[in-house]
Amino acid sequence: MKKIFFIYSFLFVGVVFLLYQCRKDKYVIPVCYDTDIQPIFTSKCTMSGCHNSTDKAKDLDLSSYDAAMASNKKDDILKVIQKGEMPPSGYVPLTKEEKQLITRWVEQGYTKGKCSDNNSTCDTSTVTYTNSLKSIFDTYCVGCHNSSNMGGGYALDTYSGCVSCANSGRLLGAVKWQTGYSAMPKNGSKLNDCAIAKIQKWINSGKPN
Ligand code: HEC
Repeated sequence: MKKIFFIYSFLFVGVVFLLYQCRKDKYVIPVCYDTDIQPIFTSKCTMSGCHNSTDKAKDLDLSSYDAAMASNKKDDILKVIQKGEMPPSGYVPLTKEEKQLITRWVEQGYTKGKCSDNNSTCDTSTVTYTNSLKSIFDTYCVGCHNSSNMGGGYALDTYSGCVSCANSGRLLGAVKWQTGYSAMPKNGSKLNDCAIAKIQKWINSGKPN
């Protein structure tokens, strides 16, 4: 009797474990294409000669959702990223988090995903490079602005690089898409109002690290 009870409990635990594994695969935590994925593509894949709407390297344009969806190469994106073939050596690599986001996007079936519109809170009370700006530049700019590939002569992957860019007087006009400036991020959509407000506050308050 005891033996049968033991076998049944064992089976029960096994079945529960299997069900849990299956559910886990099915329920990928959704990502928002516009805010999680496109910025990575824009910054790290659409540099000159690469996957922008003019050069379309390997017939793949990653400058917008529609363009990416229209390509029959989209199923290769994850493969080349996982193999470490893209971005090619010499360019800024994808971070572990960026790879995970792209993997989740592919697993959710390339959909635009779930996007929250919480523009309501934008805290610009204390803006420093490390706490507020680094993540913006890392997400939207460093693929084209780093020490080995200085788009327009600017590297935005270090504090000092960002300070010199701001000191040139070109930073704010570029992110605000003002006339007379190149609109940044190049090939991408405009930064959200909160990110622009933070950059402005940072410049006005003496560019604290
Ligand atoms: C896809 C590549 C790419 C991305 C992404 C990108 N840039 Fe640029 N950036 C360039 C290139 C190339 C130039 C040189 C001018 C041009 O070709 O428009 C440039 C020029 C600039 C300039 C000088 C503009 C002027 O009118 O003098 C600033 C400032 C700048 N970028 C800031 C940024 C910031 C901030 C971001 C992120 C929010 C960013 N860039 C994202 C490629 C890029």
